[in-house]
Amino acid sequence: MLSVQNVSMSFKERNVLNNITFTVKENTINIIMGKSGSGKSTLLGIMSGLLKPTSGQVLFMGNDIYRWGDFRRSRFRNKTIGFVFQFFNLLPDLTAYQNILYPTIINPFSQNRRKDVDYLIEYLGLERIIHNYPRTLSGGELQRVAIARAIINRPKIVMADEPTGNLDDDTADQIISLFNDIRKTQGIAFVVVTHETRFLNIADTYYRIENSTLIKQPFPSETSTHAPSTTFLDNQRKQPRRLIAIKSPQQSKKPKKRVIAD
Ligand SMILES: Nc1ncnc2c1ncn2[C@@H]1O[C@H](COP(=O)(O)OP(=O)(O)OP(=O)(O)O)[C@@H](O)[C@H]1O
Ligand SMILES: [Mg+2]
Repeated sequence: MLSVQNVSMSFKERNVLNNITFTVKENTINIIMGKSGSGKSTLLGIMSGLLKPTSGQVLFMGNDIYRWGDFRRSRFRNKTIGFVFQFFNLLPDLTAYQNILYPTIINPFSQNRRKDVDYLIEYLGLERIIHNYPRTLSGGELQRVAIARAIINRPKIVMADEPTGNLDDDTADQIISLFNDIRKTQGIAFVVVTHETRFLNIADTYYRIENSTLIKQPFPSETSTHAPSTTFLDNQRKQPRRLIAIKSPQQSKKPKKRVIAD
């Protein structure tokens, strides 16, 4: 769906990314790790249409996004990409509800998404805090509001830059499960820059940036790709949901895990 081809990026003399090739397939979770300053956020910016690389191409459905005009690329950023950040980046003077609705107001390409807000509030278990201001919310609540905001315009891909970097372990686990749920129920792909190895439990691909190069990594044996046995939605939702079997290519001999889904 989104394909980075032979991308290099230099800031003045400094070569931060060198000849990177990477594809995001639909409905996948893709993890990128690497040391501080290795170029992870730069790569997310390039993939999102925010930062033109020094050389190489970024193709969305076969079209080079940096050959588009500003108008079309900004439509791509608004419609196709959702963003989640470490420090949540909510607007402090808007309530949680207004923050979630915000992209539907500023985005002239958005259709009427307001009815979707109510669905997302229930989906993410935010009913209790929805009219509160960000300063009164916990880290996990802030990140769930930020996730709702990121997916309100029904993007194809969510770019998440250290989305659990500011959360405790239990809350981070909730967010990790939530990404997995959203991938399954909403059909959204994720590119997640993180230091959190537990993200590998839900990942389809795992890369590291080392010496300016993106290198595909094997999954550590103890985190072979599989869905967590319980999901964020299991804990949030009281009403019964249809059970579906999760197929995992590396788990064919093990009993299949079951999760709750729409
Ligand atoms: N606009 C810019 N101008 C000059 N240098 C930049 C610019 N943006 C990033 N850099 C440099 O490029 C390098 C990679 O930055 P980047 O933010 O992508 O790293 P990162 O892997 O996301 O690091 P961290 O884990 O600390 O967030 C850094 O050395 C940074 O200083
Ligand atoms: Mg960064």
